[in-house]
Amino acid sequence: MNITLRQLRIFEAVTRHLNFTKASEELHLTQPAVSMQIKQLEQAIEIPLFDQVGKKISLTEAGEELQRYSRSISTLLQEAEQVFSEMKGIQRGRLNITVASTANYFVPRLWATFRVQRPGVKVSLNVTNREGLIRALAENETDLVIMGQPPEDMDLVAEPFMPNHLVVIAPPTHPLCGARHVPLERLREETFLVREQGSGTRSLMERVFAEKGLEPSTPIEMSSTEAIKQGVEAGLGLALLSVHTLEMELALNRLVVLDVEGFPVLRDWYFVYRAGKRLSAVAQAFKDFVLKETAGIVQVADMGASKGHK
Ligand code: PGA
Repeated sequence: MNITLRQLRIFEAVTRHLNFTKASEELHLTQPAVSMQIKQLEQAIEIPLFDQVGKKISLTEAGEELQRYSRSISTLLQEAEQVFSEMKGIQRGRLNITVASTANYFVPRLWATFRVQRPGVKVSLNVTNREGLIRALAENETDLVIMGQPPEDMDLVAEPFMPNHLVVIAPPTHPLCGARHVPLERLREETFLVREQGSGTRSLMERVFAEKGLEPSTPIEMSSTEAIKQGVEAGLGLALLSVHTLEMELALNRLVVLDVEGFPVLRDWYFVYRAGKRLSAVAQAFKDFVLKETAGIVQVADMGASKGHK
């Protein structure tokens, strides 16, 4: 059977209007051109597709059958078009991702590996604290967010992908280094270096201390994790941080994880986006890639802690 997609498109227009003149107007063709294509279609199938009584035309049984096939073919073509445009999107798309300042310690590395597979994709990475992440979600300014503890009072999709362990750190010269099961109350006497208001790490710390009815004395506020690490190394005080931010300092023994009662606090890292948002092909591909890369990572905090204890 020798029929073309163009003939099917013309046939579809005629079946919709049941009128050759209207179909030819819609298709910007002459009426004889439309009639000719339908005639050729009928010749290829070897059965009439339309009955004509006066000016009125209607579909024959074969016409109705062809109409069903024609619809299926056009649906399949649309699907194929969608798949190819998604493929183009994955190869050459753009991803706007917003991550917690704390996640900034591992997201660029994941992105670098992902980029090897898809060099054409462009990323814009926005790093901000929890408050900034929540704002980006509320204002629909980002494709994908990576954060700890997603807010519960927003309509979001949150998928956990990797453990996030929060630990108490000290300089290696601190008297509590090497001590076992330090009671949380003991930390009341210590100066803490804390992140700015709006930081998820800060609010988690306040929650953990408040659960025990404690408040760290004379906290020193610093607006970046880097500054806090430098401050702890310099002996300004202790801090509570995600173990993901400490890889180098722990490996070089510049900082030590203290064995404090109730720590590490175990949380997860999440992919977060607004409920009902259709992820772009590239956002979906990056998310799938990270889920695969991070599957099976469970022991991060324990590694950090064991390095800290003598
Ligand atoms: P933050 O990150 O301390 O940089 O805000 C932690 C979080 O996502 O909650």
